[in-house]
Amino acid sequence: MNKVTVIGAGNVGATVANVLAHKDFLKEVVLIDIKAEMAQGKALDSWQQAPIDYYSTKLIGSDQYETTQDSDIVVITAGLPRKPGMSRDDLISTNAGIVNNVTENILKYSKNPILIVVSNPLDVMTYAAYKMSGFESSRVIGMAGILDTARYRAFLATALDVSPKDIQALLMGGHGDSMVPLPRFTTVAGIPVTELLDEATLNSIIERTKYGGGELVKLMGTSAWYAPGAAAAQMVEAIVKDENRIFPCCVNLNGQYGLKNVFVGVPVKLGKNGVEQIIELKLTSSEMEMLKASADEVQSMMSVYDNLQKA
Ligand code: APR
Repeated sequence: MNKVTVIGAGNVGATVANVLAHKDFLKEVVLIDIKAEMAQGKALDSWQQAPIDYYSTKLIGSDQYETTQDSDIVVITAGLPRKPGMSRDDLISTNAGIVNNVTENILKYSKNPILIVVSNPLDVMTYAAYKMSGFESSRVIGMAGILDTARYRAFLATALDVSPKDIQALLMGGHGDSMVPLPRFTTVAGIPVTELLDEATLNSIIERTKYGGGELVKLMGTSAWYAPGAAAAQMVEAIVKDENRIFPCCVNLNGQYGLKNVFVGVPVKLGKNGVEQIIELKLTSSEMEMLKASADEVQSMMSVYDNLQKA
């Protein structure tokens, strides 16, 4: 695998391309945007960083899908970012149109790429790319869990005054307020976090994590890009290097956790075929209830998408 396309050269897409270039394991990264000059400019800027930061990955920016020919992986970040006061349904109809259009165009030039979706609302946009592409579900993966878990890990690192490197954690469920925290799977250098933090502090960190995206929208007037971009690049790396890394990702469940035909965040093994395995944990009844509620919420947004397609 040598070629990755990133659709959308905005804040997130340009960050994905730049982080991938820095990792220096790809031959080529193509950045596509309807704003051709923006895509060209950001690709050129990143290429001019190569002699300083020492990488060989070529970057090409364009609005022409011909340049995406034979991509191994396509990361979809095109779409409107959430603005303060914007309703979820508004975002679904606008971004679903964009994701549908982008997926159709990708398929003209790449036969069977793995699709990584970043556009929001994440779970339903992953479903949109899945429906439009007709790909098997192991090849259409949404990026949310790595980001949500990273936010949680960063908040824990601050509270404990330790390196974020030592914090391992897992969150499941949809990308948003209904995410499912799993403190019993959170450790600090192998030590259960519950040994180090009292329940009230831990709960406040979990709450802050649930609204982590909104906190940044409020601060910046648009949604975040550094951590989301790095998270998508980490998924690309795991797939290209066939690492079999375990990350929480948004995937289509087919009976796992008692759920079917719903895109929701669960731990998966990522390798050269995309999702190599969905890891099914034995959840407690309250964790299962939260996951079910989260899946119900995603399912209702998937119905909004389905109805839009019929209209
Ligand atoms: N094809 C290609 N690019 C498109 C299309 C399209 N049909 N429609 C929009 N774009 C481009 C825009 O021109 C813009 O450059 O997508 C880019 C989006 O960039 P930003 O507005 O900077 O948004 P960003 O912060 O990158 O977020 C993109 O990722 O995290 C999610 O919620 C976020 O859905 C949003 C997406």
